[in-house]
Amino acid sequence: MTNIFAYTPKTLAQAAQTIKDGGLVAFPTETVYGLGANVFNSRAVANIFAAKGRPTFNPLISHIAEVATLEELAVPDSRVKALARHFWPGPLTFVVKRKDLSPSLDLVCAGLKTMSVRMPNHPIALELIKASGVPIAAPSANRSQSISPTTARHVYESLGTNVDMILDGGPCQVGVESTILDLTTSQAVILRAGGLAKEDIEDFLGEKVAVSHGNPDQPSSPGQMLRHYAPKLPMRINVPATERKEDEFYIGFGAQDGNLNLSKSGNLTEAAANLFAFMHLAEEQSEYKSIAMAPIPEIGLGLAINDRIRRASYRK
Ligand code: TXA
Ligand code: MG
Repeated sequence: MTNIFAYTPKTLAQAAQTIKDGGLVAFPTETVYGLGANVFNSRAVANIFAAKGRPTFNPLISHIAEVATLEELAVPDSRVKALARHFWPGPLTFVVKRKDLSPSLDLVCAGLKTMSVRMPNHPIALELIKASGVPIAAPSANRSQSISPTTARHVYESLGTNVDMILDGGPCQVGVESTILDLTTSQAVILRAGGLAKEDIEDFLGEKVAVSHGNPDQPSSPGQMLRHYAPKLPMRINVPATERKEDEFYIGFGAQDGNLNLSKSGNLTEAAANLFAFMHLAEEQSEYKSIAMAPIPEIGLGLAINDRIRRASYRK
């Protein structure tokens, strides 16, 4: 008996009630599983940080189910509105100026005058937000600094019963977190590469988008911390199959084959979807001392994949 509940209309209603009552619900999105609470309930939001063991109060993404809600919470300019209409629901998060300066949102926004908002492309997530009647604050549903969960089982293994309910909606299709786009200044800046490719945003905006890797000592996004998304075993990256060591669990890509292959056909979307599940599998292999990963091209979703594995491989 666990706190994992298969999705049914009944468990969905129960999950929405849990959110209304100030509880924590882990739920599927197209990127990774989120650990959700009512954005307006500071105690519930504080419990997110406690359950994750997150050392500081970093701002959380507010998840909404309708584009119109964006204007209730924030002050989106015409660029943001156009991007939202085009890419939502989807793996794109905007950092925008806050409109609602009520103290109940302070914890979600970590006291900043900006906030991050996204509409996830997952029927269960959207139904949960609508049935709860409030935006849902949700970081990835895992202990701080460990690998993000792409299945309900990953959530359970990381957070156990610190969560009131885990809604099981099967594996996440995108597999890496959303792209975070800062639109608080005229220059659009990606704060975290993610499930929507930089090239797609640039094509739509008709302008270049900058990428900020941040200051690792003072990250504006915790995802910018050097060591993040970390597996329990040490990991080497950019390792061609020919340079793999005997005691290494090798995660291949394309023609560089190994114990697992992120995408035999070299498809970066498929590779992103497999990434975290494969890292979970790799760290469970007791006969290997470390993990090695094949080189991944730095284009499209390769930016997000390389960002995550660079941080996962970081050792002081
Ligand atoms: O795909 C995703 O984005 C997943 C799913 C559950 O939606 N969520 C997720 O949340 O990855 P989290 O908390 O792990 O990452 C949110 C990131 C953090 O790095 C946080 O610092 C940044 O967004 N962030 C939130 N509000 C911000 C703000 N006002 N300014 C700058 N960064 C912000
Ligand atoms: Mg996270």
